[in-house]
Amino acid sequence: MTDIVAAGGVPASTPSSAHQPILSIRDLTTSVSTGKETFDIVRRANLELRQNEVLCLVGESGCGKSITALSVMRLLPTPPVRVRAGEILYRDRNLLDLPAQEMRKVRADSISMIFQDPLTSLDPVFTIGSLMTEVIRSHRDVSKATATDMTVAILREVGLPAPERRLSSYAHQLSGGMRQRVMIAMALVLDPEILIADEPTTALDVTVQAQILDKLLEAQSERDMSMLLITHDLAVVAAVADRMAVMYAGEIVEQAPVDELFEDPKHPYTQGLLRALPHASAKKEKLIPIPGLVPPPQMMPAGCHFAPRCPHALSRCWEEHPEFETIDGRSFRCFNPQSFVHS
Ligand SMILES: Nc1ncnc2c1ncn2[C@@H]1O[C@H](COP(=O)(O)OP(=O)(O)OP(=O)(O)O)[C@@H](O)[C@H]1O
Ligand code: SF4
Ligand SMILES: [Mg+2]
Repeated sequence: MTDIVAAGGVPASTPSSAHQPILSIRDLTTSVSTGKETFDIVRRANLELRQNEVLCLVGESGCGKSITALSVMRLLPTPPVRVRAGEILYRDRNLLDLPAQEMRKVRADSISMIFQDPLTSLDPVFTIGSLMTEVIRSHRDVSKATATDMTVAILREVGLPAPERRLSSYAHQLSGGMRQRVMIAMALVLDPEILIADEPTTALDVTVQAQILDKLLEAQSERDMSMLLITHDLAVVAAVADRMAVMYAGEIVEQAPVDELFEDPKHPYTQGLLRALPHASAKKEKLIPIPGLVPPPQMMPAGCHFAPRCPHALSRCWEEHPEFETIDGRSFRCFNPQSFVHS
């Protein structure tokens, strides 16, 4: 039987509390205004982050991953970028409706973010010690000595060598890997329920990437935290994700448990991403790139955004825009889903 449910991808009849979303992004539309014109850069995006899971958000550069995350945190550069429509529900409260002060509290107590570029997010004028104790003491009623102890403990937990000595260092005196560990420590020190990590390891060399990712996952499972991990590295996704969402040109085009998505991707774009992976078992060294480019936001096709690059486009794909639906337990946005042939 074909089972179609609303956009969002979770059938209404699966009430198990472990699977309840802690964060639901519903029909999020975020736009950028340039003089007279306004373009959507995230369009009707639906995502659900569940308790204690790792949800990976993947997609080519410029598809809207960071803008989605910054919309949740309400840290968009407004103007020119602003949320135009939708809801972001955290424990039944729409974050988009919260007064600024309450939103600051949510950012301090409940939802933390690690940004793509640690140098721009660590204030260069203050030492690591004063940055971290300031974060702690502005949200917790603790003495300076306790805040320092908390800082040293969390820096040690994320693997920063000799943390006591680093308290008097400035961000520019640390290596990229150390800075990223400080960012992670800062995001974790107030014990958030949700961590949004935006490409937390991209700027680092491969060995350091693996160590930092391990620390993040350790922290996630020890704290029963939910994590939205933004990455374009599908090998990382395969290793760490419970579920995965694929974004293309501002839209979520597919979302599923990671095993299902790797085994049987439905959307032609997801299939293209997987084909572009080097296949270890086949010893194939060459990536197969997806032909063509992502259209810029001001030149989106009227129908499916992927139509100009899609090998399975039908004539309706050029005229109608597919909705995000769940069909037979699989959630995607496509008129002509395909079976995937593994090479
Ligand atoms: N401050 C801004 N002003 C105007 N356009 C912006 C701004 N920030 C982002 N955009 C546009 O929004 C779109 C989505 O950008 P976003 O940074 O979310 O992409 P991304 O998926 O995170 O890419 P990457 O993988 O490179 O980090 C892009 O077209 C980008 O040019
Ligand atoms: S809706 Fe049509 S063009 Fe878009 S991905 Fe599906 S088959 Fe391709
Ligand atoms: Mg980004």
